[in-house]
Amino acid sequence: MRKPIIAGNWKLHKTLSEALALVDKLKNDLASVKDVEIVVAPVFTALATVARAANGSNIEIAAQNCYPAVTGAFTGEVSPTLLKDAGCRSIIIGHSERRQLFGENDALINTKIKTTHEAGLRAIFCIGETLAEREGGRMFDVLKRQVSEGLKGVDTQSMQQVVIAYEPVWAIGTGKVASNKQAQEAHAFVRNLVREQFGDEVAAEIRILYGGSVKPDNVDGLMAMPDVDGALVGGASLKAEDFVRIVRFNKG
Ligand code: PGA
Repeated sequence: MRKPIIAGNWKLHKTLSEALALVDKLKNDLASVKDVEIVVAPVFTALATVARAANGSNIEIAAQNCYPAVTGAFTGEVSPTLLKDAGCRSIIIGHSERRQLFGENDALINTKIKTTHEAGLRAIFCIGETLAEREGGRMFDVLKRQVSEGLKGVDTQSMQQVVIAYEPVWAIGTGKVASNKQAQEAHAFVRNLVREQFGDEVAAEIRILYGGSVKPDNVDGLMAMPDVDGALVGGASLKAEDFVRIVRFNKG
């Protein structure tokens, strides 16, 4: 059975003291949760502090991005090795905001995934179509390209260190969540792509998270879908009460 993952992407939000207050509350309110992996992704400047605060709890820390090198003359960048040193266990890679606002392409994302693995960290690899791509009938082609290019040359063993997040761009931050059926359709398609590229075992084990306007009032339906293995949550992860309810989704 695939253990669900609920991950909070804090994006560019929260000062150090706000981040600490949030993780303290989550630590307290989620201490008894054992059947869900809980992840939060603060801004770079809060990572080490939040990781220290979460140490010994069931909350894991992720970074929101990385640069695909270990060290070197790369002013302003942060490597997976340093993120691990700061207490991260995973890195969100290829988020649609990185693709759209910062020009990240499939090849760069692929290099980032490999560098993340070399540091011994897990990649939370984001994919998803825009509204124009969906309405133009190109959704499946886009997902296929993102998966095959993003995971090119990743070996079967390293796939244990990959979580996929399907995040339709039109659902991110818009309040327009994908329907349960739309999410299931995309997730089943993506799992099949993984099967074609890496075989049955990897496909059966890989966790595929849904992201895009996940809220306390829609998480239960999404999580009831057979191929939805968790959620990547933006806006609703900034409020302890909402995130706690999402982690404690109703298992039906
Ligand atoms: P949202 O963001 O939950 O605010 O839509 C999701 C994401 O960008 O990961």
